[in-house]
Amino acid sequence: MKISICKDEELQNNQSKKFTIEEPRFDREAFVFKKDNTLYAYYNECPHIGLALDFDDNDFFSEDQTKLVCKNHGAEFNPCDGLCTMGPCADTSLKAISVAIEDGVIVATISPK
Ligand code: FES
Repeated sequence: MKISICKDEELQNNQSKKFTIEEPRFDREAFVFKKDNTLYAYYNECPHIGLALDFDDNDFFSEDQTKLVCKNHGAEFNPCDGLCTMGPCADTSLKAISVAIEDGVIVATISPK
């Protein structure tokens, strides 16, 4: 399944955008962001206890913009691979989603489970 998120030009470095993945039982939330002109996307589900990382404010980055942060209990994640480097879920990872630019549009490809 492919999901068109937004035009590539609408997302600048260190900006993020949330999107919804429709699934049969319930919809899931995810987010895409651009860092050093590379796109990354993850499910918005912390590996600690599954809560959304942000407080519904689309703010996923640490103050210095170098890490992703879960606002619930402070876990920090490497933005490039989703690995938790500090916090209650250290050494686990965010679930990544494949993203690419197709005809100027950021598109997520969701793999079947
Ligand atoms: S839910 Fe993310 S650190 Fe606890």
